[in-house]
Amino acid sequence: MNELTLDVKIAKTTIDRNIYGHFSEHLGRCIYEGYWVGEDSSIPNVRGIRTDVVEALRKIKVPVMRWPGGCFADEYHWMDGIGPREQRPTMINTHWGGVVENNHFGTHEFFDLCEQLDCEPYICGNVGSGTVQEMSQWVEYMTFDGKSPMTDLRKKNGREEPWKMKYFGVGNENWGCGGRMTPEYYADLYRRYGLYARDYGDNKLYRIACGASGADYHWTETMMAKAGDARIMRGQQMDGLAIHYYTSVNRLPDGSREGSATEFDEAGWIDIMSKALFMDELVRKHGTIMDKYDPDKKVALIVDEWGTWFAVEPGTHPRFLYQQNTMRDALVAAVSLDIFNNHADRVRMTNIAQTVNVLQAMVLTQNEKMLVTPSYHVFDMYSAHQDATLVPIDVQSEQYEHAGYSVPAISASASVGAEGKLHLTLSNANPNKDITVKAFVRGMKGSKVEGRVLHASTMHAHNTFEKPDAVKPQAFGGATLTAEGLEINVPKMSVVALDVM
Ligand code: AHR
Repeated sequence: MNELTLDVKIAKTTIDRNIYGHFSEHLGRCIYEGYWVGEDSSIPNVRGIRTDVVEALRKIKVPVMRWPGGCFADEYHWMDGIGPREQRPTMINTHWGGVVENNHFGTHEFFDLCEQLDCEPYICGNVGSGTVQEMSQWVEYMTFDGKSPMTDLRKKNGREEPWKMKYFGVGNENWGCGGRMTPEYYADLYRRYGLYARDYGDNKLYRIACGASGADYHWTETMMAKAGDARIMRGQQMDGLAIHYYTSVNRLPDGSREGSATEFDEAGWIDIMSKALFMDELVRKHGTIMDKYDPDKKVALIVDEWGTWFAVEPGTHPRFLYQQNTMRDALVAAVSLDIFNNHADRVRMTNIAQTVNVLQAMVLTQNEKMLVTPSYHVFDMYSAHQDATLVPIDVQSEQYEHAGYSVPAISASASVGAEGKLHLTLSNANPNKDITVKAFVRGMKGSKVEGRVLHASTMHAHNTFEKPDAVKPQAFGGATLTAEGLEINVPKMSVVALDVM
């Protein structure tokens, strides 16, 4: 019953490393405290950016970082965030708690962060409350190599050479916090703003349009019909369309979410599993609409915000979206990454929200302390898939049923790396039952298998500043080579990553 069938010989699609991308917004303690502590901080830092966080994120090979929002992006005026820090104006971060934003982390600091992380920048421009000129000048400031008022300004601020910047978002959630637009109206704005966000020299922008909220298929249909034509003039084409989908218990009218991140019963576990698995339907249905207009799959489907969204930790600011991260989050990460891998022909970037101290974070900080979460470990265990070639996989799984829900217990994806190793990741969403999976592997005869497993004795297990290693991967001895491939004993509520060579 629990069987995987895969043929290494038919592997052809690259799993874009950017599927393992991240998103960091000026929200709560993500940018400030999470990354930026300032040059005079007693917390070890390089030019104001904390070293422990950078080192942890380098280990999971963060390929791309989206910034400055989120809803913040459509209220952000980039010129406030350049020049001597003590002279930068303050603003109110109206969307995220009405707190004062001192603009000490701006364009130069973001590119420095990306250089320290060795990742690609993905900048989201302001369509909701910004002008075409403002967006156009930001791109010119960052990427133009010639003489112009914007390049003079950049040089005056200490940066002689332009930066390389490929990924550029033309607005964020323009159906909601980014301007409450209709798709018809936004499609026209996308064409206009996208045009004046110019390609300078050899810096070719990869323009990403705001996509749908969850299952709003009309948005995708309209965007593809009105702005998805890859043959329109250079500089106007859409390279990616970015949908957003969060896994949560229930959304309240004020936008906050119900349900504790750490205190839930088995119904709360399976509810979240089933909502995370809905990503597969979303990717398929949006992809099918895109296929109609773009059968060659030139336009990427990007999921530039995803992850779990629970009620904030008790006693924390309601708009800072600080939540803990348990084995439940780890399973959400695993099944989502399997879905993205398995749709790598259309999905070429995703950005989990939001890296540090916000929503489904990789890293949590408390003053000078830092811990990594179970979700971080999943990104680490899955990192072998980055830029490997997808091995199409057929997954036959028993159902896990509880409280009226029914979901497949086993999720999996596979790839083959340049070095010829087969990378197989799988998870067992059933918190009550270990499951033996037979993998029929064609096109490769393995001689050795090794791997790691992430599991814990309770669904609520998580890392705290007192016990930062309560949940961490262990060496896995539950996989054996067979005549047909592999037999894998996947422990209950666990994530397994195998290398077969
Ligand atoms: O990630 C938190 C918020 O969720 C983002 O700012 C916004 O784009 C989305 O609604």
